[in-house]
Amino acid sequence: MQVKKAVIPAAGLGTRFLPATKAMPKEMLPIVDKPTIQYIIEEAIASGIEDIIIVTGKGKRAIEDHFDHAFELEDTLMKKGKMDMLDSVLETSKVEIHFIRQKQPLGLGHAIWSARKFIGDEPFAVLLGDDIVENDEPCLAQLMNQHELTGKSVIGVQQVAEQDTDRYGIIDPVSVDGKLIKVNKFVEKPQAGTAPSNYAIMGRYVLTPEIFEYLGEHELGAGGEIQLTDAIQKLNEVQSVYAYDFDGQRFDVGEKFGFIETTIEFALKRPELKEQLLDLFEKKLLEKRTVESAKY
Ligand code: UTP
Repeated sequence: MQVKKAVIPAAGLGTRFLPATKAMPKEMLPIVDKPTIQYIIEEAIASGIEDIIIVTGKGKRAIEDHFDHAFELEDTLMKKGKMDMLDSVLETSKVEIHFIRQKQPLGLGHAIWSARKFIGDEPFAVLLGDDIVENDEPCLAQLMNQHELTGKSVIGVQQVAEQDTDRYGIIDPVSVDGKLIKVNKFVEKPQAGTAPSNYAIMGRYVLTPEIFEYLGEHELGAGGEIQLTDAIQKLNEVQSVYAYDFDGQRFDVGEKFGFIETTIEFALKRPELKEQLLDLFEKKLLEKRTVESAKY
């Protein structure tokens, strides 16, 4: 069955970006001039998704407003002939976007479970706003193709440095032969030194609807939260769940340094910003060298 619906959970507290996220959703923080969640929606659209449900929580009105039509703004841009700007504002109107509320931030697994009535009995995609992936063939489209071939749930993974495995959901692969990986076990944030591999789950999933049976158990996992990875492991015990080592460069915008790095990388791709930025780096490097040489 073709995947047509996607869930984007955006009801987390975003504590790593406080105080910015006290009143503003972290998903609205911009990379250059576009909110992170818009990059994710554009990937879903490019992958052929027709309906998107965003799971929001307290203080997330800005997300709903962002994806609503802004008639006054659109009219003004049209009258002034600012068609590029108008296109950028209308970019995400090609898809149906719906909203539901997660009443309490009980964890990612609980946020996905909140979308069960919207999904019904069909396979669906999940995209997390913490990861932006750049590739000609969108990351989600790669997973959707693998789902069509196998009929099973497919989880996007990439390798991470050994010392970072305790920050992710990690897979224990049966064997790695190519990009589609059979999985023994899925483990959420294994303690340092205990990870069964360095293949980490990267915020892109295609799931079969049976996942809701396990999410509905509301079992608490790592960090006292209802974890999606734990439900995936339970599903894997009755119906194989595959991992797929997708192609693409991943940008981690869920933590501060990754966010800054992504902002710089994306700004460098913009002709109107590139030269100025490179001049700034040159100046900063020179300052650093001057300070260092003064020490000796
Ligand atoms: P994170 O682990 O990144 O949590 O959640 P967070 O609250 O967003 O950010 P920090 O760690 O406090 O800085 C992963 C994804 O799951 C969503 C988040 O919005 C994010 O997209 N989530 C998490 C929910 O929708 N509900 C929850 O209860 C928890």
